[in-house]
Amino acid sequence: MLNKIKRIKEEIGNFRIIDHAELEEFRLKYLSKKGHLNALFEEFKTVAIEQKKEVGQQLNDLKILLSGAYERFKGELDSRRKVETSNDLTRPGDSIPLGSRHPISVVCNEICDIFNRLGYTVAEGPEIEDDWHVFSALNFPPEHPARDMQDTFFVTKNPDRVLRTHTSSVQVRVMESTPPPIRMIMPGRVFRNEVISARSHCIFHQVEGLYIDREVSFADLKQTLMFFAREMFGEETRIRLRPSFFPFTEPSAEMDVSCTCNGKGCNLCKHSGWLEIMGCGMVDPNVLENCGIDPCEYSGFAFGMGIERIAMLKFETRDIRMYFENDVRFLQQFTSAL
Ligand code: DAH
Repeated sequence: MLNKIKRIKEEIGNFRIIDHAELEEFRLKYLSKKGHLNALFEEFKTVAIEQKKEVGQQLNDLKILLSGAYERFKGELDSRRKVETSNDLTRPGDSIPLGSRHPISVVCNEICDIFNRLGYTVAEGPEIEDDWHVFSALNFPPEHPARDMQDTFFVTKNPDRVLRTHTSSVQVRVMESTPPPIRMIMPGRVFRNEVISARSHCIFHQVEGLYIDREVSFADLKQTLMFFAREMFGEETRIRLRPSFFPFTEPSAEMDVSCTCNGKGCNLCKHSGWLEIMGCGMVDPNVLENCGIDPCEYSGFAFGMGIERIAMLKFETRDIRMYFENDVRFLQQFTSAL
């Protein structure tokens, strides 16, 4: 048996393989069920006990040698094929799979589009802001408890620099730099010191809206938001305004849209039939004054909504964290929304 093993080892040393047919021949001859290696293992059972150790070792060596040779031959064939095909300059190129827009961008663009049709233009502001634009100008005095609603990341204390907690800071910048009439929509990223969970994140996105002109009334606000809700969620959508409080609007309201279950009861609206989507109100005269606009001459309304919240309602996702994990399996589902 030792002789047989030796002979096969020599054979392998001289083996040359030209194509896949020969590779298969090699496999059948040595490595298949009916090949030499298996036959030798069968024969091994009959070897005398005192020889088992030596023969067993040789047999195992042979096994490693044969499977190593097979892999090597296969590798050589594959790389030869690669060289041959890569030299073929007439072959078509490898296609690059097309990505898709992030669902938050999709929803943000849709919101901006709707307001563009009402004559709103887009404005942007810095993510690292000062206290004045995020809080003071918006009627949150220092030390006022209203600041507790938005737990803030402070970057430096003096001069004060914070990560903006809402896009309302851009309202202030717009009013400071633009004489009325103003009709602007302000999308952007905002930051709050929140525990990350299925419902909240320390980073999210908002779209802010601002309309300032002579004789703007609450009826204008309601009509504008109703138009938006119907464009965004469908013709049948109804809206509801509930009294609320924001330091920078007076009066203030939260807006709900009717749930598609029509109040019949679903998990999303928790059987209430309504989904809260944004805060809004008439811009407080103090805020207008802070930004250099005469409140006796001008009035206006503002609103702000969370993009993740709208995306979660639209795409029926239950966990806000999905929008930040960049898991391609999640993101790929939005290719149709390009
Ligand atoms: N800034 C508010 C928030 O982040 C949302 C908001 C409410 C914006 C009312 C507004 C507004 O412009 O008028 O909770």
